[in-house]
Amino acid sequence: MPELFKTTITSDVGEAAGFIQESLPVAFPTETVYGLGASVYDEVAIGRIYVAKGRPVSNPLIAHVDDPRQVAELTASISPAAEQLIEAFFPGPLTIVLPRSQRVPDVATGGLDTIAIRMPDHPTALALIAEVGEPLVAPSANRSGRPSPTTWEAVREDLDGRIACILTGERTRAGIESTVVDCTDDRPTLLRPGSVPVEALLGVVADLETNLDPDRRIERSPGMRFRHYAPGAKVILVKSPSDAVAAREAAFIGTEAPPDQTDFGLVRICEGDEEYAFELFDFLRECDRKNIARAFCQQPHPSGIGRALLDRLRRAAEQG
Ligand code: TXA
Ligand code: MG
Repeated sequence: MPELFKTTITSDVGEAAGFIQESLPVAFPTETVYGLGASVYDEVAIGRIYVAKGRPVSNPLIAHVDDPRQVAELTASISPAAEQLIEAFFPGPLTIVLPRSQRVPDVATGGLDTIAIRMPDHPTALALIAEVGEPLVAPSANRSGRPSPTTWEAVREDLDGRIACILTGERTRAGIESTVVDCTDDRPTLLRPGSVPVEALLGVVADLETNLDPDRRIERSPGMRFRHYAPGAKVILVKSPSDAVAAREAAFIGTEAPPDQTDFGLVRICEGDEEYAFELFDFLRECDRKNIARAFCQQPHPSGIGRALLDRLRRAAEQG
């Protein structure tokens, strides 16, 4: 059973940092989704993250730094490809996986000998890390299996009473989590598509492996093993909006309007894939609030941000 808290909602970074210093995880905004953070060196607080989220302990966490130079204290070695990716994409929605240093406790990495690291491109996140003075490990601040939170209200929906503090901010800009690239081998490997498109990565590391065999990917990226992003509704992917079947208890999201638009209980038409990514998790949560039974989602092209979007949609559509 999780401990019970009266959850403090604050916009004060100093107050939020105070909770982290007392080993109490704090939810905070980043440019991708909200995270639930604790010091990477605080085993007690990290234990509380897993309990609050109901997260399997074998699913490792991402460490968030406020300066690229902080990567060195967390790692045993930094490959040339990692250096290039850090140079090009920190701060930003790219996470790199490297061999971990002795200082990092086992609980932070699910017992792996590697650690995932990113530098968020968000002033509040950076201010919080700076105030604590240590890198913060943070998974997305949702209950395990639920869509990631893009607003502080979505964090409250999932974690009210289960965490001590939510540091508020605006709705997150990207809406989809960071791209994860494994840099422990000579050849960097895409583990999770995300907000940095593969095309942009290939411009920096041309030999990036982007089509890892699914079994190998699950082996190397433990998070891929678990059910994710699932609302109560059945998520159905459609090629064309005309394949969506209108009904009061049905919802639609996509970049083109379905024929009987007004007959759906909820409809979101996005200007393009970036907006689709920005809207998706909020839409899935809105489906729950409206007791939607079937959520029809238009399939994006698997290029640019569409690749990550399609990954999230497919995983939301998997039956648990
Ligand atoms: O945008 C994001 O990445 C957000 C914000 C809060 O930064 N965080 C996030 O964390 O999405 P989470 O815990 O929901 O996803 C972490 C992903 C999982 O797929 C996990 O398997 C992978 O990163 N990961 C973490 N450590 C790893 C490691 N050492 N090796 C391979 N994959 C790792
Ligand atoms: Mg997550």
